[in-house]
Amino acid sequence: MARFTLPRDLYHGKGALEALKTLKGKRAMVCVGGGSMKKFGFLDRVVEYLKEAGMEVELFEGIEPDPSVETVMKGAEAMLKFQPDWIVAMGGGSPIDAAKAMWIKYEYPECTFEDMCKVFGIPTLRNKAHFVAIPSTSGTATEVTAFSIITDYAKGIKYPIADFEITPDVAIVDPDLAETMPKKLVAHTGMDAMTHAVEAYVSTANCDYTDPLALHAIKMIQNKLVASYNGDMDARAQMHNAQCLAGMAFSNALLGIVHSMAHKTGAAFADYGAHIIHGAANAMYLPKVIAYNAKDETAKKRYGVIADEMGLGGANDDEKVALLIAYLRKMSDDLNIPHCIKNYGADSYPCEQGFVPENVFLERLPEIAKNAITDACTGSNPRQPNQEEMEKLLLACYYDREIDF
Ligand SMILES: NC(=O)c1ccc[n+]([C@@H]2O[C@H](COP(=O)([O-])OP(=O)(O)OC[C@H]3O[C@@H](n4cnc5c(N)ncnc54)[C@H](O)[C@@H]3O)[C@@H](O)[C@H]2O)c1
Ligand SMILES: [Zn+2]
Repeated sequence: MARFTLPRDLYHGKGALEALKTLKGKRAMVCVGGGSMKKFGFLDRVVEYLKEAGMEVELFEGIEPDPSVETVMKGAEAMLKFQPDWIVAMGGGSPIDAAKAMWIKYEYPECTFEDMCKVFGIPTLRNKAHFVAIPSTSGTATEVTAFSIITDYAKGIKYPIADFEITPDVAIVDPDLAETMPKKLVAHTGMDAMTHAVEAYVSTANCDYTDPLALHAIKMIQNKLVASYNGDMDARAQMHNAQCLAGMAFSNALLGIVHSMAHKTGAAFADYGAHIIHGAANAMYLPKVIAYNAKDETAKKRYGVIADEMGLGGANDDEKVALLIAYLRKMSDDLNIPHCIKNYGADSYPCEQGFVPENVFLERLPEIAKNAITDACTGSNPRQPNQEEMEKLLLACYYDREIDF
């Protein structure tokens, strides 16, 4: 038996934010990030609409990018005091993910972070509150997914919380919110979405319900992401939908080792002054993982279908895989994303010598590889890498080496 779960309601299109006026409840806690939603006036609108719906509103502001366990615990405390029956999370993946984890702790105050990380082990939610998610970036699709990514900074590791219990009740996909994204954010979140769709399509948990969502998302991202990056706001609006479709696919088909590696490298070099931003990590690792996974016949055929859908040509599956890899690398070039960690600057742009020193990378490699293998996303990857293969894959991602294993 398989399960396919999505939010009960999804409002989309310009002005969809107004759907908040129709919610029924007493108290709404609005969870947001560092200030972009306030600055552009969206936070005020959300508060106004919720008040129009007759609710008392309290804000939990300042959720940082790549949210920490500590922030989750603080937010849950605020919820325990305020007792909301709606949690309204707005912003990028970070505040929405943090709010999902706060929700668990709010409903089950005795639940520890370790308890939350047990895959598909979350107890029944919605005894105290329902959850609305309003994305302002076009990538994570956390507004429709069963995932939340929280960083344990003491360990330098991102942990995915995974359970259909945390799939939001209501998603509001309003393209107005995505218009204010700076170019770099468009690039990174867009390649995150592309990676979601590709990984979902070749995942061992793919099914007839997820395949069309993944393929349609891939085609839309192929056609709209670079235009959106270059300021075309119609393309930006379509990317907002495309990333959400990709999310519907991967929330139900799961992901693969591009994400395992991105989760375990993202914060691993934070002591050298930067993160490897999630979407950029995915963009760099995806071509390497495609080459590795394509050694599996079923995965190779599926990459061939993707290449066909994208109209890339190729006389056989090997050629199609090569063309797909070349296409994705060209997209990264168009979006100013480097091809490997060695050339990944602290500002995320390509540079001669990136912020992760070679000796530090090599020293931490065995531990990172070990952690990537045990990441929740590895189980549904078409091939199961052992320690040696995972280290070789990560080395290829550091040096931009060809994959021959
Ligand atoms: N839950 C999931 O299913 C899932 C999937 C993929 C990634 N993630 C996680 O999501 C996080 C990344 O989320 P993200 O890429 O959406 O970025 P983010 O939420 O970390 O935001 C990045 C920055 O962009 C700003 N910002 C957000 N929206 C903006 C807008 N419209 N205009 C101007 N600035 C804006 C924020 O203030 C912040 O400074 C990572 O922690 C990643 O691991 C979660
Ligand atoms: Zn992702």
